Amino acid sequence: MNNYLLEANELSKTYKMGKVDVPALKNVSFTIEKGSFTAIIGTSGSGKSTLLNLLGMIDNPTSGSLSFNGTQISQLTNKQQTKMRAEQIGFIFQSFHLVPVMNVLDNVALQLYFSRSDKKRRKEAAIHALQSVGLGSHLHHYPADLSGGQRQRVSIARAIAKNPEVILADEPTGSLDSKSGAEVIDIFKQLHKQGKTIIIVTHDLEIASIANQQLILRDGELKETRTSKIQELRQYYYSS
Ligand SMILES: Nc1ncnc2c1ncn2[C@@H]1O[C@H](COP(=O)(O)OP(=O)(O)O)[C@@H](O)[C@H]1O
Ligand SMILES: [Mg+2]
Repeated sequence: MNNYLLEANELSKTYKMGKVDVPALKNVSFTIEKGSFTAIIGTSGSGKSTLLNLLGMIDNPTSGSLSFNGTQISQLTNKQQTKMRAEQIGFIFQSFHLVPVMNVLDNVALQLYFSRSDKKRRKEAAIHALQSVGLGSHLHHYPADLSGGQRQRVSIARAIAKNPEVILADEPTGSLDSKSGAEVIDIFKQLHKQGKTIIIVTHDLEIASIANQQLILRDGELKETRTSKIQELRQYYYSS
């Protein structure tokens, strides 16, 4: 028995655009330990979101395999995959993806619909998650009435309310000012401290440097897996 939460083996993804093949990810292999913090970095178009979507089971690979907690994803039925995703994976999008006609509380509670049957417990879990990201006094606000940083915190609450094993975030600070960005990063640090496995796509080397490992993508290939401090990372990133 190993301690890997995720094991990617020769993962590839090729998008079809009409008759044209777009190879977005090419034979990528790596492991992610339970409780670790991983940053995925690389220039725009290098395949970061494609990889994160595969890890979050939002999309399926064209070839290669992925296992989650020792289970081969490809061997699960659609229903089992949906259940696994609903219960164990928290996904945070750069552009929040909140439902505009629902208040903050309902946005978070809705996400629990697939994993918790009891309505009262859904509500309790949603309130608890919102409190933990500092939005306990904004339960009945609508997304449009919130700042970008607050919206991102709602989407974090939505991802963590079900108490998932892993939290995946695609450039969670990409559209935030630096103060809101720092608050959001603090939440990820807290979650990591609590033992969650965190995987973040980011352009921010400061964030990447607090991770246990950095996966560096270039043109769909995994160039390197490393553990670097900020100076080293800057040097590496800007010299290659
Ligand atoms: N749905 C899609 N259909 C076709 N091509 C796509 C799709 N999504 C991404 N791509 C292409 O795949 C490559 C990797 O994209 P992406 O994973 O979004 O990169 P990143 O997140 O690093 O910017 C790019 O060339 C992009 O244009
Ligand atoms: Mg992207």
